[in-house]
Amino acid sequence: MSTEINMRVLLKSRPNGFPTEDDFDVVESPIPRPQQGEILMKSLWLSLDPYMRGRMNDAKSYAPSVNVGEPMVGGAVARVVESRSPLFNVGDLVEGRFGWQSYAISNGIGVRKVDESLAPIQTAVGVLGMPGLTAYFGFLDVCDPKPGDTVVVSAASGAVGQIVGQIAKIMGCKVVGTAGSESKVKFIVDELGFDYAINYKTTDVAQSLDELCPEGIDVYFDNVGGFVTDAVMERINTGARIAICGQISQYNLETPDMAPRNLGLLTRSQAKMEGFLVFAYENRYDEGITRMATWIKEGKLKYKEDVVEGLKNAPKAFIGMLNGENFGKTLIKISE
Ligand SMILES: NC(=O)c1ccc[n+]([C@@H]2O[C@H](COP(=O)([O-])OP(=O)(O)OC[C@H]3O[C@@H](n4cnc5c(N)ncnc54)[C@H](OP(=O)(O)O)[C@@H]3O)[C@@H](O)[C@H]2O)c1
Repeated sequence: MSTEINMRVLLKSRPNGFPTEDDFDVVESPIPRPQQGEILMKSLWLSLDPYMRGRMNDAKSYAPSVNVGEPMVGGAVARVVESRSPLFNVGDLVEGRFGWQSYAISNGIGVRKVDESLAPIQTAVGVLGMPGLTAYFGFLDVCDPKPGDTVVVSAASGAVGQIVGQIAKIMGCKVVGTAGSESKVKFIVDELGFDYAINYKTTDVAQSLDELCPEGIDVYFDNVGGFVTDAVMERINTGARIAICGQISQYNLETPDMAPRNLGLLTRSQAKMEGFLVFAYENRYDEGITRMATWIKEGKLKYKEDVVEGLKNAPKAFIGMLNGENFGKTLIKISE
């Protein structure tokens, strides 16, 4: 370990619009040493997520921005390699917000021990981590699905969307997903068991929804916003539930898009639209992890990962994910 260095990816500049690789700096530093009460961890897997784009801005949000010159924020799966804490042993596998770096120090707050028997370890930042839990609680709690409901989910092949659609099928719903390529729409129907899928880049979303959901839409799990959401909103049923999970179509706009002007549809439909953050469910994570791990073991829940090797490739992979070049949960494999 002493010959190794700590590779870190820093925020170099705040982007306007889409980030570029020039907004990041890849640097090498000495491996930090833990103080009394702290642990040193070697990161194995880094999760790349859309929320990180917001952290690059200097804007008010539910979490602080990354300061220029500091490592990008990010969830990671790591191995404890040195412990000066009574709570962790060398060899423990842990998950937490360790950032875009190959080694991290922590006092243990917010660090979760990972049960390696459940599934491959990288799932602790995927289907059995933040994105999967977002799907689980956002769909089951916010959307309150009933068997027979017609459910639409956007960004349906992504980390969150692919899990939402499969949980909806487990709950006995009819599921339509939207995604941005032919291979993605084929995958979510053929491999994940969605009933239908719409390529929002090549087809008229409104017309497709009319054809595929003649009975209207009871639940919309929104990951994207923009014109896909406009088309869904026009077709919601009385008592519909709409979860605003994310609005990725808006994250890289230099000028904010038009504000929603179709909210009257909520009145007409006596529908509920609710934004949520997965962190609000932290005290119930074990429930979600246990249930989804069971579904995985039973073959009812699949997950697709998009793995890029090497921390130095994280900026390119992150920008690609924002562009829809990822196919499944975006992960950086940092180390064995
Ligand atoms: N509320 C929460 O607590 C919470 C937690 C986690 C994630 N989220 C949100 O959930 C959403 C999905 O996150 P994820 O981690 O699962 O990402 P992801 O779906 O794995 O990756 C992002 C996907 O967004 C799609 N996309 C990009 N630009 C788009 C556009 N202009 N219009 C429509 N789709 C576009 C792309 O897929 P296509 O090829 O299909 O376009 C891309 O692959 C994001 O909005 C994220 O911010 C919220």
